[in-house]
Amino acid sequence: MSKYAKIEAAPVEERYARGWHCLGKASDFGKEPTKLAYFGKNLVAFRGEEDQLIILDGYCPHMGADLSEGYVEGNSIRCSMHAWRWGQDGVCDDIPYAKKIPPRACIKPWPALERNGLAFVYHDPEDNPPLEEEMPPVIEEHGTDEWSDWEVALIPIETNCRELVDNMADKAHFGPVHSSEALFFENTFHKHIAVQTMEGKSPRLAGDSILKTVATYYGPAYMITEMSGEMNGVPVESKLLVSHVPTSTESFDLRFGVLVKKFPGMSQEDCDAMVAGYVQLSQQAFFEDVHFWHTKVRVDNPVLCDGDGPIHKLRQWYNQFYVDRADVSNTWDDEKVYSVDSINPIPPQKTALDEQRAAEYAKQQEEAVEA
Ligand code: FES
Ligand SMILES: [Fe+2]
Repeated sequence: MSKYAKIEAAPVEERYARGWHCLGKASDFGKEPTKLAYFGKNLVAFRGEEDQLIILDGYCPHMGADLSEGYVEGNSIRCSMHAWRWGQDGVCDDIPYAKKIPPRACIKPWPALERNGLAFVYHDPEDNPPLEEEMPPVIEEHGTDEWSDWEVALIPIETNCRELVDNMADKAHFGPVHSSEALFFENTFHKHIAVQTMEGKSPRLAGDSILKTVATYYGPAYMITEMSGEMNGVPVESKLLVSHVPTSTESFDLRFGVLVKKFPGMSQEDCDAMVAGYVQLSQQAFFEDVHFWHTKVRVDNPVLCDGDGPIHKLRQWYNQFYVDRADVSNTWDDEKVYSVDSINPIPPQKTALDEQRAAEYAKQQEEAVEA
């Protein structure tokens, strides 16, 4: 047997996680039908009479036309090919040329939700309804005068979505990838919730103070991070959204959003500039992760050391969303806490690269001012 490490990556099963998936800002959805190519399927989203978000299977089972090309009528959508009409419960409620509607004329209505200014769809391969205790929690601060609205960036990624979720337990990447030394790092897993608590140095997002983040996955695909940092010597409170929806087993749409607490006493103009600046810095930090998802390979059997985070435990927790509800392990009924106290220094090459990029950025800014 070879002494060399052999990377294993079994083919991914054609199954998508059970849970709420965020579709971006709720205001992106209007009366006109929107096509959603998710979970290896086609869905259609539109708003009904009460402005409610309705999501249905996207292909008409009559002869297969794309329902996102159809016409919204009240709470129903009429197919553009032979004019069958589908209600928000998925039941065909009109065929203009038939005496009787076939009993099988029924498509899947997908549970939809608007919360925190965001739109969500619930996926369950068993078609069970979502549980009340697993709803995405309300963010009280959203929509108040004290906070900005979401800035959401959409980034299509060509890999299996487990790569993104692994990040949750990956303590050792903070130094080399984000130039941020994690001084405290802890994961807790409880039921459908996974939390990463981190305190560390991050000159970019916290100046000379300590950056504190609490990142929480509510289910398999929706994460909110509470972040306390600093910019230009001013404390900054922000909330980050990291969510994904699989398009196939080897691709997903990633959404990264930022909410920033406004700065009291600052003029509107200065406040807007600070918010925009912090959004940009947060995006820069996050896009450093994105680079790796585009270039790395999937590893089922990582060679880990004692200073790594609990990657295997995280994957076991994540696996609960890929089995039938009846088969979910009771391991996560009680909270499990894992902390890692290793130090992950920033490699000098990364520091040099940061300095080079900062100089390039400053030069670009200067040229922009001169122009
Ligand atoms: S394909 Fe939709 S009505 Fe015929
Ligand atoms: Fe990261």
